[in-house]
Amino acid sequence: MCGIVGYIGSQEASPIIIDGLRRLEYRGYDSAGICTLNGGEPQLRRAEGKLVNLENILRENRATGNRGIGHTRWATHGRPSEINAHPHKAGNIVVVHNGIIENYLKLKNRLQQSGHNFSSETDTEIIAHLVEEHYRQTGDFEKAVRLALTEVEGAYGVAILCTDEPDKLIAAKQGSPLVVGQGDGEFFVASDIPAMLSHTREMIFLDDGELVVFSPEKMWITDLSGQPLVKQSKTITWSPLMAEKGGYKHFMLKEIYEQPRTLADTIAGRLQGEEGDIYLEDLGLSDKQLADLDKINIIACGTSWHAGLVGKFFIEKLARVSVEIDIASEFRYRDPIVTDKSLTVLISQSGETADTLAGLREAKGKGGKTVSVCNVVDSSIARESDGVVYTHAGPEIGVASTKAFTTQLVALYLLALKLGRARGTLTADDCREQVEALLALPRQLEEALELNEQIEQIARDFMNARDFLYMGRGNQYPIALEGALKLKEISYIHAEGYPAGEMKHGPIALIDENLPVVVLVPRNATYDKVVSNLEEVCARGGKVIAVASSDEDELQGKVAALIQVPDTTEDLLPILTSIPMQLLAYHIAVLKGTDVDQPRNLAKSVTVE
Ligand code: AGP
Repeated sequence: MCGIVGYIGSQEASPIIIDGLRRLEYRGYDSAGICTLNGGEPQLRRAEGKLVNLENILRENRATGNRGIGHTRWATHGRPSEINAHPHKAGNIVVVHNGIIENYLKLKNRLQQSGHNFSSETDTEIIAHLVEEHYRQTGDFEKAVRLALTEVEGAYGVAILCTDEPDKLIAAKQGSPLVVGQGDGEFFVASDIPAMLSHTREMIFLDDGELVVFSPEKMWITDLSGQPLVKQSKTITWSPLMAEKGGYKHFMLKEIYEQPRTLADTIAGRLQGEEGDIYLEDLGLSDKQLADLDKINIIACGTSWHAGLVGKFFIEKLARVSVEIDIASEFRYRDPIVTDKSLTVLISQSGETADTLAGLREAKGKGGKTVSVCNVVDSSIARESDGVVYTHAGPEIGVASTKAFTTQLVALYLLALKLGRARGTLTADDCREQVEALLALPRQLEEALELNEQIEQIARDFMNARDFLYMGRGNQYPIALEGALKLKEISYIHAEGYPAGEMKHGPIALIDENLPVVVLVPRNATYDKVVSNLEEVCARGGKVIAVASSDEDELQGKVAALIQVPDTTEDLLPILTSIPMQLLAYHIAVLKGTDVDQPRNLAKSVTVE
């Protein structure tokens, strides 16, 4: 996610803004910029890469003035570059933005037709032009911002300056956090608390649809229609480090709780309701090329490989094309069969995993087409693929992947829908029906996260086990593997994931009262079969932790613990059942006192073989 900092008061704005952006570095970024106003003269400086590059520019060419806005950009539309860095300027309007504008293409076309010229690939730039257009018509900065934002669909946190009205700084929030800081004769606005904590602890959290106008002497908050609002100020008592984690104890827990938002961000702007189709902006392959494919390979490592296993179900069911899936380090050495009618899908959160990058090159070397599912814009794997479906999870700091995994599943589902539509195996109505279920997911994730306290208690009950077994069937088997990986990589307890149907072929010998068995048994086509496997475990004294659907009470009393997740389509259930997997591993690791965010021996991105 991007970082925003704004300041208006009696001090020089630039040092305050840069210091604030530095305190937001944990959010991850790939370019930065600042604009201050000295009188009405805009002093706009931007740089690709880290903040130090921007500071070097400022050292040579200061940005003076006691009001300004700054930004660190985590690229979602348009690669990391100086030209795509914020702030963006149109006429006398300067904007920094966090979020995703879903209708930016439609607005951009309209603005271009009325003579606006764009210089960047970003969705943000349309906000500057939109406000500028309304300002030219109304001559009123505040009104122009309100009118412009009424046209925008999607998520935004924005801070805006107008060179003709330098005594005002305006900010507004819809879906992306913005916090107001109140100092002594000065005001701050930022996307997160840490940016302002060294200046003030008195903060106001804006809600969706709210807009704040700052002048050096006062501030006022309204809704988008201009209706004044009264907001309560809060005194923040967090330490700076706690603030970086948003008040959560670990980045991993913060990222688990970000999933409703990151899912919504990954879906945003990609659903074409009228056509009953999917729009993947950087896919790089035409519908005809997709229709001509005769095989798909999926390759990845670790959690991303688990996402690929679920993706195989999505694609084979919705697009009726054969999918082979490999662990990347195996694919590259087995002389795989790849032709010009093959599509190889690389899944990688970091976009830098050496084995996956090597697999990409292997597939390209054999003439195959490649599409990657990546979370980092312009990463090596994204850059070298013919096309990319970006997850919009924002930077994932915790080594154990959580929000990247669920956004990978959504991205793969969107890809499967796109393939199905291009290959004619999915009608527009079928697609609309699937999309309905997808749009309900963020709210269902919120419900699944309410299981946290129950799961924390289950963690207490089972934290001293030496081994865990995880079982699932069909598209829940990859979630069993993912649950086992989460547990072992952060709590250091040995855990195995197994297809539930394999119990009788060996693992059942392990069952006794000391072996907790996590069974993924939501209401789906194999429910009865998995219940039988679960009963085999119970009959041998095994302790079952069942993850079932919310209306499933027949298991109550049979199992040691029953976790019930909201209902969704069978295809999308893996996204919901992965939440208890993440929370169970997290709480056991916290109870065992391991380094949850930086587990021993692990790196966030394995850039070596
Ligand atoms: C997941 O929790 C692990 N940290 C690890 O398995 C990770 O998924 C794997 O290294 C792949 O990383 P990538 O998605 O960045 O390619």
